[in-house]
Amino acid sequence: MTRFLTPLAVLAGSTALSLSIASADPLMDRIPKVFERAALQTDYMLESVEKDPKLPRTTRADGSVVLTVPEEWTSGFFPGNLWFLHEYDKSPKWKEKALAYTRRLEVIRHFKGNHDGGFMLGCSYGNALRLDPSDEFRAVLRDAAAALGTRYVPNLGLIRSWDHKPYTCPVIIDNMMNLELLTWAARNGGDPKLREIAVNHADNTLANHFRPDGSAYHVVDYDPKTRWIRGIYGCQGADVRTPWARGQSWGLYGYTMMFRETGNPAYLAKAEKLADYLMKHPNMPADKVPNWDFGTQPAKDVPRDASAAAVMASALLELSELSKDGKRFRQYAVAQLMSLSAAPYLAEPRTNGGFILTSSTGHLPANSEINVPLVYADYYFLEALLRYRAMAKSEKRPSFGEVK
Ligand code: GLY
Repeated sequence: MTRFLTPLAVLAGSTALSLSIASADPLMDRIPKVFERAALQTDYMLESVEKDPKLPRTTRADGSVVLTVPEEWTSGFFPGNLWFLHEYDKSPKWKEKALAYTRRLEVIRHFKGNHDGGFMLGCSYGNALRLDPSDEFRAVLRDAAAALGTRYVPNLGLIRSWDHKPYTCPVIIDNMMNLELLTWAARNGGDPKLREIAVNHADNTLANHFRPDGSAYHVVDYDPKTRWIRGIYGCQGADVRTPWARGQSWGLYGYTMMFRETGNPAYLAKAEKLADYLMKHPNMPADKVPNWDFGTQPAKDVPRDASAAAVMASALLELSELSKDGKRFRQYAVAQLMSLSAAPYLAEPRTNGGFILTSSTGHLPANSEINVPLVYADYYFLEALLRYRAMAKSEKRPSFGEVK
């Protein structure tokens, strides 16, 4: 950048010169500070949790860390965060921790109790495969994909999300995130039908899971015999008529990823439409960190969802490289990441249970996890920053689905 110096700056010499030049890329300047904070926070968290075999998810009101069993949908994110710390600084320390936490999930390689295998094993073993490829990781990922495939309901062409009442055969928008595990496995020695399952699921979700304005429902419940939709539910959102923030981000990320995996232009069009809808939403706050539900207007006492912003930013960065006119997506993601990487979202050292981000909302209608840290907010925040760093340096950074 060429700048004209004032006479005062010339007289003051090089110090005035360096102060007078604005950084060309403020987000790139922030990334080292954020990863330094993330490492410090993770060390702090490990002091209190490492001896327990369970995995971090959020905090209690007293600030202590809530840990969960491997069968919980969030189990893969903390191992993933450790892999991201290793990806950033290449240190053996984080690799050792990442391997140890990843292997805590080996016990769920055949788990069929929910649709979350992509979250649980893709975010842990998938990152292990990306950063330290081995047949051990490939075998676990193939088993996890086969287990997820057993939840496919052929008569519907959809993967069943949950097994609990009051639903019959519920499908949630979040399930789009698990399809990368299936497309990876189909290309890497697993049953080739797993790709067909992923594509059918994405196609039928595209047909049934969106409101006329393009936003996603959270839950659509089907009758597998008649193939009718039995009901549509707001569930983690405010109302069936309003867009639950994180659900929109799952949809955006899922269709962006499925376009990368298949090249189907309908998936790209869906991702672009959803991105534009969210970016232009009148209830999006000025700092671009959404309220927990887009049906709520920005106001001081309305809980935000930093996790929705982190997932959205990561998806927008990938979309910006796949879309013909992707600059607006990249600019928006940068603005979101600038917000998240500063107060009040970036946690102060040795606070927040050791999580990196504050201000996420898990399930407000159930009065659960409101305005708290959530491990998956940290995961998609670090992923987005690593994606951005690679883009800024014109480096290729494959997702796990692209690795053999
Ligand atoms: N997949 C559950 C959630 O986003 O809260």
